[in-house]
Amino acid sequence: MEIYFAPMEGMTSSLLRNLHNEFFGGCDKYFTPFISTNENYLLNHKEQRDVDPANNEGLKLVPQIITNSAHQSAEYLYMIHEKYGYEEVNINMGCPSGCVVSKDKGSGMLRSPDALEDFMADLEKEIHEVRPEGTFLPDVSIKTRIGYYSEDEHKRLTEIFMAHPVKQIIIHPRFRNQMYKGEVHLDEFGYMYDAFTDAGIGVVYNGDINTKEDYDRIADRFPKLDGVMIGRGLLRDPSLARQIKGGEKAGNEEYLGYMEAVLDGYAKVIPSEKNVLAKVKDLWNFAKPAFSGNDKGYKDMCKADSLESFRVCMRQFVRNSVLD
Ligand SMILES: Cc1cc2nc3c(=O)[nH]c(=O)nc-3n(C[C@H](O)[C@H](O)[C@H](O)COP(=O)(O)O)c2cc1C
Repeated sequence: MEIYFAPMEGMTSSLLRNLHNEFFGGCDKYFTPFISTNENYLLNHKEQRDVDPANNEGLKLVPQIITNSAHQSAEYLYMIHEKYGYEEVNINMGCPSGCVVSKDKGSGMLRSPDALEDFMADLEKEIHEVRPEGTFLPDVSIKTRIGYYSEDEHKRLTEIFMAHPVKQIIIHPRFRNQMYKGEVHLDEFGYMYDAFTDAGIGVVYNGDINTKEDYDRIADRFPKLDGVMIGRGLLRDPSLARQIKGGEKAGNEEYLGYMEAVLDGYAKVIPSEKNVLAKVKDLWNFAKPAFSGNDKGYKDMCKADSLESFRVCMRQFVRNSVLD
């Protein structure tokens, strides 16, 4: 079973992906945070840098797009393969953020099943008919939820994806209105898993895998999964994928080395010290639950207003806390 590092906007840039792979490994695939499609079929500078294979050497990377247009999706599949050589592109149908769903993108695509059905039919048509004969288009995978308003929508979604199959479906078993909180609906996930795996569509589970035990529970219950995708669990314990594959849990010094490398990496590419600090504090917000026993040390890190004082506080915090 494979392990994928989930895309996380603002967090999993090429810098973090490369450092994660170098320090800990264990992930079979990484995904870019979503790239919004537009009618010019162009990536902005930041997206170009993030996708460029030269900045992702040694990683298996899947670019992710977010869209509400089947035509733009097909053009992006074509462009991403032609310019960068990727053989898989993922479509985001899971992002719950208000400004995304208001444009019928991300999990906004799940709000109207009829519109989703049209999108999937159009995508199939664009991919198979509109491109000139012989043009190679990358495989499509989809990252989705089990519904928009409630978990009861999962059967209709299954029907739609079964009628318009893609290579692989990554499922976060929450509905949109749950955002990233509350119960994960494993029975509904199980229904989709059975239908898709029986039909030869690959299935990946995503949601709340924070420990090796969490992984084992999912892998035991759903043995035909292609893999699991892990997001926040890998920001918190970057050695989690390595542990799942039988390797060591990170120790305090290894963890610190990684966080210092992330800090140095950001300081090299982000001109303003204030913005570098904001970036590393955002990451620490996800990382902090890995540690216990030194809340005062963490408060000092949060208060630090220069990179040097942050670095001193970070060393003090990591070395004097328990890595649970
Ligand atoms: C800060 C943040 C940014 C995210 N950005 C993306 C994104 O760009 N594309 C995407 O498909 N999912 C995104 N997600 C969702 C994650 O990929 C993942 O589905 C979610 O965190 C649930 O998995 P987890 O419980 O393992 O974290 C984001 C989540 C967070 C917390």
